Amino acid sequence: CGIVGYVGGQSALDVVIAGLKRLEYRGYDSAGVAVLADGGLAAAKKAGKLANLGKLLDERPLPSGSTGIGHTRWATHGGPTDANAHPHLDNSGRVAVVHNGIIENFAALRAELAERGHELVSETDTEVVAHLLAENFSSCGDLAESMRQVCRRLEGAFTLVAVHADEPDTVVGARRNSPLVVGVGEGENFLASDVAAFIEHTRQAIELGQDQVVELKRDQVTVTDFDGAPADVRSYHVDWDASAAEKGGYDYFMLKEIAEQPKAVADTLLGRIDESGRLALDEVHIPDHVLREVNKVVIVACGTAYHAGMIAKYAIEHWTRIPCETELASEFRYRDPILDQRTLVVAISQSGETMDTLMALRHAREQGAKVLAICNTNGSTIPRESDAVLYTHAGPEVAVASTKAFLTQLVACYLVALYLGQVRGTKWGDEIHSVIRELSQISTEVEKVLATMEPVRELARSLAEKNTVLFLGRHVGFPVALEGALKLKELAYMHAEGFAAGELKHGPIALIEDDLPVVVVVPSPRGRSVLHDKIVSNIQEIRARGARTIVIAEEGDEAVVPYADHLVRIPATPTLLQPLVATVPLQVFACELATARGNEVDQPRNLAKSVTVE
Ligand code: G6P
Repeated sequence: CGIVGYVGGQSALDVVIAGLKRLEYRGYDSAGVAVLADGGLAAAKKAGKLANLGKLLDERPLPSGSTGIGHTRWATHGGPTDANAHPHLDNSGRVAVVHNGIIENFAALRAELAERGHELVSETDTEVVAHLLAENFSSCGDLAESMRQVCRRLEGAFTLVAVHADEPDTVVGARRNSPLVVGVGEGENFLASDVAAFIEHTRQAIELGQDQVVELKRDQVTVTDFDGAPADVRSYHVDWDASAAEKGGYDYFMLKEIAEQPKAVADTLLGRIDESGRLALDEVHIPDHVLREVNKVVIVACGTAYHAGMIAKYAIEHWTRIPCETELASEFRYRDPILDQRTLVVAISQSGETMDTLMALRHAREQGAKVLAICNTNGSTIPRESDAVLYTHAGPEVAVASTKAFLTQLVACYLVALYLGQVRGTKWGDEIHSVIRELSQISTEVEKVLATMEPVRELARSLAEKNTVLFLGRHVGFPVALEGALKLKELAYMHAEGFAAGELKHGPIALIEDDLPVVVVVPSPRGRSVLHDKIVSNIQEIRARGARTIVIAEEGDEAVVPYADHLVRIPATPTLLQPLVATVPLQVFACELATARGNEVDQPRNLAKSVTVE
């Protein structure tokens, strides 16, 4: 989501709307504003893009005031409706709050508020904050202090920005995990999710730290921790131009999205593992007895999402012993698939609008199958038409080539597989438990990979003149190889192919010629070591025929060293989770190669982010 707050001498509404326009890339399923004027608070909000809000404001203008907040939403809790749009108000209509993140304990807080007579009108986790702030304000009379008290009660990730009609020249913000930046002006101050929102007014910024509350007045910025102790702040000068600011200083959205992966992965796990280390996926709303009855899982998806589905097959069959097939959505319904009430169809889609996937799920439901969507876009068509949905929390993905959405699709697939295993009880109970633990740490491992990518970029640049790159993998490394090849096709417009390494000898090995780059994804030498030994032989076979081997292998795997012309290290993970770390170097590789070839990274030729035709 994108958040803006303003207090100063200009029309708050104009400043906030202009800021939201610059943040629209952060979310665009609804938008809203609130301004303090004439001793009261006036708000407007609307589902859909910012333009819809603009239209509403033309028809019903708000009074003009010099303090205001705004929000452009990427829905997590509650679909993208007018009622769920931010800001959220308390029952007196004197407090307005906007929020980015997920408040994990909102259900308990909501129940508590309802008991005290509050009427909550949206399905969001945010609304509880408006009510809690109003309650606190009526006893302490200070918005910043109220915010501190409320934040101490919240669990999860949140950036909050609020105004109160009784404190007309104040905007208060709070931050835990999700970003929030202060823009320091003269006689005016700004708050925003990123500097893009205020860069046309000021380049002086303060980045808020974890668990801090900021009080903004026209001439004063006060930052404290959640207990009210003054906080050290880091002030800096922004030297990006406006378009770089939208990309967080990265040259392309794709680079920004690759860098956001640790957070996207962590957000997708947030609130889904309870204190005892078990999965809590009640949000899926498929009763356990129905899940116990499932005797077949069919996954349908397209493009990158299909590769996530291929990996899910390994995980589901291993942990649940339920037969699982993964099928290209565009092929699915035309081959008259065998489905019935006991089939669980999982439709994976970042956009939730891909026509091939939508048609596949409609066909599945017509045959009586239950459909679970894994989707990144709240309220889009695919989740709307499914029986249940598990949202990935990657945030909006702008670059056409999917990166962070893919990693979060994998996380969601693992969650589904592990949950099925947990509900049904399998002989892998202990393994399931330990994998959940490893999964909850995995975002740190993704971060480690990102920190070591310079040699991969260098290598990519050195291969800019090549015509072909091949990718090999076994087991879950096979879909990773396919994804690596797809990224290279999409971005670098090169001939790239992924193969199951064992299949090499049955044909593709004829393609190997002198100095042909071949990327090999090596499974862990621990666990299924047979697989590892087989692939080491495959590397030797291609190298003997002249291939230039680019080996992606776990830390400490020494067996591959003699045969690797280039070695890329990834952290050790359980075998089935390896794609979460092994894919990252392939994304970086493709992005850098595309740049070296002078291609447009965010919008490759001939492609569209979401394909709504069959
Ligand atoms: C398009 C995009 C791909 C994406 C595929 C599926 O072809 O270019 O990057 O993987 O659609 O999209 P979805 O939104 O359903 O995940």
